[in-house]
Amino acid sequence: MESTLTARDRVGVQDFVLLENYTSEAAFIENLRRRFGEKLIYTYIGSVLVSVNPYKDLEIYSKAHMERYRGVSFYEISPHIYAVSDNTYRAMRTERRDQCILISGESGAGKTEASKKILQYYATTCPVTDHMSTIRDRLLQSNPVLEAFGNAKTLRNDNSSRFGKYMDVQFDFRGAPIGGHILNYLLEKSRVVHQNHGERNFHIFYQLLEGGEQDQLSKLGLERNAQKYHYLVKGCCPRVSSINDKSDWKTVRKALTVIGFHEEEDLLNIIASVLHLGNTQFGEGEDGETQITTEPQLTYLSKLLGVDGPALREALTHKKLTAKGEEVSPLSFEQAVAARDALAKAVYGRAFTWLVAKINQSLAFKVSHTSIMIGSSSVIGLLDIYGFEVFQHNSFEQFCINYCNEKLQQLFIKLTLKSEQEEYEAEGITWEPVKYFDNKIICDLVEEKHKGFISILDEECLRPGEPSDISFLEKLEDTLGGHAHFVTHKLANGKTRKAVGREEFRLIHYAGEVNYTVNGELANQSVNSTAVICQSDNQILSQCFNREEVTTQKRPETAATQFKNSLAKLIEILMSKEPSYVRCIKPNDAKQSGRFDEALVRHQVKYLGLMENLRVRRAGFAYRRRYEAFLQRYKSLCPGTWPNWQGRLADGVATLVQHLGYKPEEYKLGKTKIFIRFPKTLFTTEDALEARRPALALTLQTSWRGYRERAKYHRIRNAVIQSAWRGMKSRRKARRRRHAAEIIRKFIKGFIYRHYERCPENEYFLDHQRFSFLMTLVRNPPKSVLDKSWPVPPPSLTEASEHLCRLCMQNMMRAYCRRIQPEWKKQMEQKVVASQIFQDQKDSYPQSVPKLFVASRLGRAHTLTDTLTRRLVYGVAVTKYDRRGYKARPRQLLLTSSFAVLVAEAKLKQRIDYAALRSISVSSLTDGFMVLHVPSEDNKQKSDVVLQCDHVIEVVTKLATMADKKNKVNISQDSIKFAVARGKEGVIDFTSGPELKVAKGKKGHLLVTAPQLNPR
Ligand SMILES: Nc1ncnc2c1ncn2[C@@H]1O[C@H](COP(=O)(O)OP(=O)(O)O)[C@@H](O)[C@H]1O
Ligand SMILES: [Mg+2]
Repeated sequence: MESTLTARDRVGVQDFVLLENYTSEAAFIENLRRRFGEKLIYTYIGSVLVSVNPYKDLEIYSKAHMERYRGVSFYEISPHIYAVSDNTYRAMRTERRDQCILISGESGAGKTEASKKILQYYATTCPVTDHMSTIRDRLLQSNPVLEAFGNAKTLRNDNSSRFGKYMDVQFDFRGAPIGGHILNYLLEKSRVVHQNHGERNFHIFYQLLEGGEQDQLSKLGLERNAQKYHYLVKGCCPRVSSINDKSDWKTVRKALTVIGFHEEEDLLNIIASVLHLGNTQFGEGEDGETQITTEPQLTYLSKLLGVDGPALREALTHKKLTAKGEEVSPLSFEQAVAARDALAKAVYGRAFTWLVAKINQSLAFKVSHTSIMIGSSSVIGLLDIYGFEVFQHNSFEQFCINYCNEKLQQLFIKLTLKSEQEEYEAEGITWEPVKYFDNKIICDLVEEKHKGFISILDEECLRPGEPSDISFLEKLEDTLGGHAHFVTHKLANGKTRKAVGREEFRLIHYAGEVNYTVNGELANQSVNSTAVICQSDNQILSQCFNREEVTTQKRPETAATQFKNSLAKLIEILMSKEPSYVRCIKPNDAKQSGRFDEALVRHQVKYLGLMENLRVRRAGFAYRRRYEAFLQRYKSLCPGTWPNWQGRLADGVATLVQHLGYKPEEYKLGKTKIFIRFPKTLFTTEDALEARRPALALTLQTSWRGYRERAKYHRIRNAVIQSAWRGMKSRRKARRRRHAAEIIRKFIKGFIYRHYERCPENEYFLDHQRFSFLMTLVRNPPKSVLDKSWPVPPPSLTEASEHLCRLCMQNMMRAYCRRIQPEWKKQMEQKVVASQIFQDQKDSYPQSVPKLFVASRLGRAHTLTDTLTRRLVYGVAVTKYDRRGYKARPRQLLLTSSFAVLVAEAKLKQRIDYAALRSISVSSLTDGFMVLHVPSEDNKQKSDVVLQCDHVIEVVTKLATMADKKNKVNISQDSIKFAVARGKEGVIDFTSGPELKVAKGKKGHLLVTAPQLNPR
């Protein structure tokens, strides 16, 4: 609201509570007029929306408009029906309370349009799923159907609803529409048989005749000409320029399909039968009795209504005297016409009620569709019901309508005052009693038990004897006489008496005085039980007319009581919900846009009780707003709260209003809201804000410019830093590239000049070569003494490389030697001796290299004496060959540190002192023969010894070492000579062969064939 308050001079106030002179009706109407002139048709009275029918499309109902009002606080934006819709919807969702929107106003004021707009708002803005979209479509499509059957062209409205409607829309916990229910009130049935001049019957009749297919019409016995039907021409205007019956018929048919309607044929039969009833004529028969003169109509009727022809004939021309219908009496002409019309009204009226029930079935929320519990759903109810009606002649129907409005006003007062009081209490503000007119007294006058108007009416109808309108009026005078709101001709005095007819009574409603005529009041009440229809084959009619109705003895309730009860139920429904109100006003009677008829509007303002609304609303404080909203809007008016208030909101508002100079009686601070008593106070504040605006704008502009310039400066600064950084990065990269190119160039040049003396051209390359040679060596030196790899040195480093290689080897060898164990050292020493003696000399040497030398090859058992044992160093099994005859004998050769002995079976056979050992001979082949040469002059010595041993290399090595005869080992190629005795020689001849063979040869030689393993 605040956003447009500034322009209030031009368009008045958006909320009537801000009217300074709120008790003045003229000021009220002037505000409406000014706004209407600006095409602002909506104005609030607090939370009540007043709507003036613009009679033209204002283009304020688009989807974009709906979006604008969605989720926006009620007062932040200009008044609109969507604001009410959205506010109600949000209240339902947040507070989880059922809501209702009560729309009232005169016929043609825009109630039905308003309810449609609300429904469309929900259909468009609420979330929907696939299933829900069906329900949504049905909710929307229920309107054209109900309008076809329940609306008609009247003088006031080309599409006037002739019934009251209350519709519940049910929403699930997500806020999606899931179902609906409609309650209908008081269809204007009299329209079925009679219309005032310039008015029409219900739309559906004309739609069927205009839009129905030819064969369909023929089947129903109808002609495509509304003029032919008496019930359609009473008002003399079957055609209306603003209505297209043909296309409306299509819309209705489509809507019926959406709703899921299958009984179309039965329904059309009923509509057609009403038209045929209208054309049913009566005449006088020969016997003077009233009889039907239009036989074809009767035939069609019996077919369409599905009843027996003669029974129908009798029902239209005779009256039953008892409830059971055994006795009948003929009807007069007038009575027959009345019976016919009553039948038409009853059939149509009940079919309409049936239709509403059918729509309800289709809108019903079905639990099976979804798992959502019904308990978690909420409801928004829409009540579209006529406002006060005052005509020249006001009948029972006006009485019901006005009584209904009286009840709704009562509800409004109760709920508004209650909610005001609750709000004050919630905010901790003392409630001051409000002065207003409570219309309960009038409601009581109508409905009080035993004493009220309806009780008296019931009593009159049930009383034995002939009740008459006059006796009823007298009864009323007796019981209600003296009541401040009830007057009759007789009870009135002077001036008033003239204004009330003799057959009239006057009720002084809260909205004004209305004279009702009692003429026909009682006849209207007696429910005409059209027994014949109870027998109908028509599916719809058989459901509408209950057979028990005819047979029961109990008198049915009067129409007034029925209405009273249904109204009580409605009030109960509404009471259980949180109400919102839409009050519709029509600006002129001519359905013209832009015309504001002040007298007409004043009349409605009065009958809608709008001044009363305003008084109740203004009784306490005119304006209230939540602290945050108030502070946000006006904080710029106080240095303490501008630009931001940091403390508690209430303190902020207190600081602000103190600074603004509010007087204590002008406002109150509640818990969450500030309450301002007079609009003047608020306007002064608004004016101050208006005055402050240019300065504020200037400040905003200055800071905006400052901000813009600063942002610009930052942008530029960032750009400069970025470009400098990028420059530096690319310069560095270029430098690196140049350097790399330089090196490559130097390298290539150096390579070309590599064989020249050191000069500037090749010095880089040579240094690099040296460097990389040394680095290779460092990174990858030889791994062990056996590893002979060594990188190729550049020419300049050849000498150094050799030194390095030597040093490296020495180093590794030293390390290797240091690691050698003593036994291994001994082994190696022996191996070295073996190599010195045998390498490249004896064929079996290579095989002996990997075989380790052992300390001794004999156990202790073979030894002779302890002395010998103690001195023994090595022992091995050998074969000794006699020098003569070459007999082979097994012996053990034992070595001590100074002599060797040959032993056989623990007997010492021969001792050879090392000093006496002249030399040792072996062959160069693979055999194991050895000859120990010992001087033969000495008799103690037995001369040379021929031995054969498997470990000849090991034995000879050890013996040569111990005897220090390393240089005395002879290796002969073919033969070895040895001394047999003094001066006598033996010879061993060696040859190579496939296997070892020892044999005596020619000339007494010993012939040894050694296996040839490794031919040289
Ligand atoms: N908000 C509106 N904008 C434009 N025209 C409207 C609006 N409300 C009502 N009218 C016009 O007024 C006519 C009567 O309105 P309707 O709602 O049928 O009245 P009610 O139900 O109060 O008798 C509508 O047919 C339409 O032409
Ligand atoms: Mg209407």
